[in-house]
Amino acid sequence: MLYRLLLSVLLVVSLSCKQNSEEKTETIPEEVKTTTYYQEKFRPQFHFSPPEKWMNDPNGLVYNDGVYHLFYQYYPEDIVWGPMHWGHAVSKDMVYWEHKPIALYPDELGYIFSGSAVMDDKNTSGFGTPAESPMVAIYTYHLMEGEKAGRNDFQTQGIAYSLDNGDSWTTYEGNPVIGNKDIRDFRDPKVFWYEESSKWVMALVAGDHVKFYGSHNLKDWELLSEFGRDVGAHGGVWECPDLFKLKVEGSEEEKWVLYVSINPGAPNGGSGTQYFVGEFDGTTFTSEQEHQWIDLGRDNYAGVTYNNTPDGKRTFIGWMSNWDYAQVTPTEVWRSAMTVPRDVTLHKEGEQYFVKSYPVEAFNSLASEISSETSITLDEAFIVRRENLNSTEIRFDVNLSKRIDLVLSNDNDESLSFTMDPESKALKVDRRGSGLTDFEDRFAGDIQTQSYIPATKNAEVRVICDASSIEIFVDKGRYIFTNQVFPQSPYTNLLILSDDEATLSNFQLNQLTSIWNSNE
Ligand code: FRU
Repeated sequence: MLYRLLLSVLLVVSLSCKQNSEEKTETIPEEVKTTTYYQEKFRPQFHFSPPEKWMNDPNGLVYNDGVYHLFYQYYPEDIVWGPMHWGHAVSKDMVYWEHKPIALYPDELGYIFSGSAVMDDKNTSGFGTPAESPMVAIYTYHLMEGEKAGRNDFQTQGIAYSLDNGDSWTTYEGNPVIGNKDIRDFRDPKVFWYEESSKWVMALVAGDHVKFYGSHNLKDWELLSEFGRDVGAHGGVWECPDLFKLKVEGSEEEKWVLYVSINPGAPNGGSGTQYFVGEFDGTTFTSEQEHQWIDLGRDNYAGVTYNNTPDGKRTFIGWMSNWDYAQVTPTEVWRSAMTVPRDVTLHKEGEQYFVKSYPVEAFNSLASEISSETSITLDEAFIVRRENLNSTEIRFDVNLSKRIDLVLSNDNDESLSFTMDPESKALKVDRRGSGLTDFEDRFAGDIQTQSYIPATKNAEVRVICDASSIEIFVDKGRYIFTNQVFPQSPYTNLLILSDDEATLSNFQLNQLTSIWNSNE
């Protein structure tokens, strides 16, 4: 009922503005729209995507010598998954990216699956010199012949190093550094330096649990412990683990956080990332607390955090897709993008620890104000009409105990809605009519929900809209929905309603500049 009302309001608004917007769009000739660099239909304007072809997980996130490296699962021949390479890009600020040549190619040990990278500053591996730290990549080899032959030993762990800040790579002649006899899913090593006992620690997944390994030189590894067979979500295979320490905000207490992606088995379907908060003593990880999810949207998977950040921050990048439909989304030149980089922080409320993740500060440099209002009382619908809302962010503070409905829509009758419903304690995203959805039944799916604490406190709602994604952050990243959308024309209407006559404060609508330079 509410929906019909909303849509009829929008239709009236749309019709009255239609002529205007059509006149404007027609001034751009069709061939310019389709041939300009990073201007294809659905091309993200401020998210990382490869210039062309297939991409999945972020890999080897490491900072060194002024640059953040982003390696990624890449198949340079097609826009579907295939023999995996590590693609490569670098950035000074995690906002603007420069593409680099492919870093790692499949070899006789197999495809190059996901993994991490470290700066071996003490030259423990001997690949560099004390004056010239090697960058070492630790990844999974996937031997397709082994898989096809029905064996269970086809995933092993290998390493490679670079002495020129990631530009050229040499694979280690002693690969694999961790072999495999019979673990079918044995992959995605995340390695970090554990200062207390001066050693490298690796988190590696093995089907339904994480195995921890230790090493003094990145070449010889011993099994330390296992975690997770009986805890956490188990609706699918565990992938892409990440273990890191964080200080609880506002205190001196430190805890360890373990991220584990799982596919399928996420609460809203398909791929998702669960996390555990607990203790790690250099050998064993334990957690007393039930697992939680980093994002309740459908498109944030296989994400991990940076090693060696200059500011000590824990910064995360996820792959903005879901294996339920990743290979059939309606793009033609490239396929899929990364999330906006997010800083991860740890919080405690009562006895409960939880993480928040929120766009890195540098992302704000893309924003320029379109309009702002100190206070908006929603005794009637608040409506904004713009030619293209798919390159904007919407931010406001609102009392979490008030009901809010936010709808983005276009003149093609396509809309995405976000609801905060304190009565059912549910946040909801409905993308069933958000644009193209029929490329895979599971894409539209059900309405996504997440339970939340409808406390009577003012919290920020921030909605970041790109050409084919909407990221919603509530309470500075405590509750997040990251979703792809494929509207056939940009959303042009923003409507915010409240049955509870909520007041929005500090409302801002910002334009977000494209990060892709059309002269490249
Ligand atoms: C996660 C994943 C990883 C694997 C990689 C292969 O999306 O399945 O477990 O290493 O993708 O491309």
